[in-house]
Amino acid sequence: MSTLRSDAGCTVVVEPSAEQAAGFVGQLFKVVVCEAVAARGQCSVALAGGTTPYLLYQNLASCGASSELPWGAVNFFFGDERDVPLDHLENNYSMAQRALLDHVPIDPTRIHPMRADSDDLATAAAEYEKSIRDIVPSEGGLPRFDLILLGMGGDGHTASLFPCTPESLEESKRLVVAHFVPMLSRRRMTMTFPLLNAARNVVLLVTGEDKAKAAQALLASDEAAKSHLPASRLHPAGKLTIVLDAAAARMTEYNAG
Ligand code: 6PG
Repeated sequence: MSTLRSDAGCTVVVEPSAEQAAGFVGQLFKVVVCEAVAARGQCSVALAGGTTPYLLYQNLASCGASSELPWGAVNFFFGDERDVPLDHLENNYSMAQRALLDHVPIDPTRIHPMRADSDDLATAAAEYEKSIRDIVPSEGGLPRFDLILLGMGGDGHTASLFPCTPESLEESKRLVVAHFVPMLSRRRMTMTFPLLNAARNVVLLVTGEDKAKAAQALLASDEAAKSHLPASRLHPAGKLTIVLDAAAARMTEYNAG
């Protein structure tokens, strides 16, 4: 593992492979959960969707991780969701259930899937925000997650905050919104930056050659080169850790080659 930069609350870590990147985040997950439960009796986590976290969730479900963690004290939320039923293969909750939640001793009452398949998405988003406000302890008026796991698309989107969707990108009041994403021609529900940036820890896990160009822009020192990337708006009150594999870091200054 090579931790290549740690400044101003942001740490960049590059691991040789996607498996090792997932393993690094798995260790970070365990530390954050144990510290949160020891300090506050519970831990609030938002899980990432997509395909990248599957390796991470499998890693966490492995017997070593599951026996060491206070799983029953973890509140699981989701950073975003697709407009498909909970049991649909493309559903982020369904993916996390298959890879992790079905394999560890969680408290099922502490799992909070987003219902992005609702006919009334605006109400569903407001209800999800209320559940977060009711469960996740607030500091300074905002619910403060102990850990938010995120991925990044090749266009620099994160959660379901996509380029050229100002109504969600610029949202400054609502913590969860539902919107139509033109480039997907689909509706999505997503946490917004006020909530993401209130977190104690945000971990962005980025692996694969197809993310190299977006990673190069995201990690560039030139602010103008990254301003179009939604992921560049991640500036959590706590710590931001960006974990990449060598393939995703190939075009960045962190290319260990
Ligand atoms: C989703 C995710 C999304 C994801 C990126 C990367 O619902 O798709 O939340 O933000 O993290 O699109 O997706 P991959 O991990 O599949 O590359």
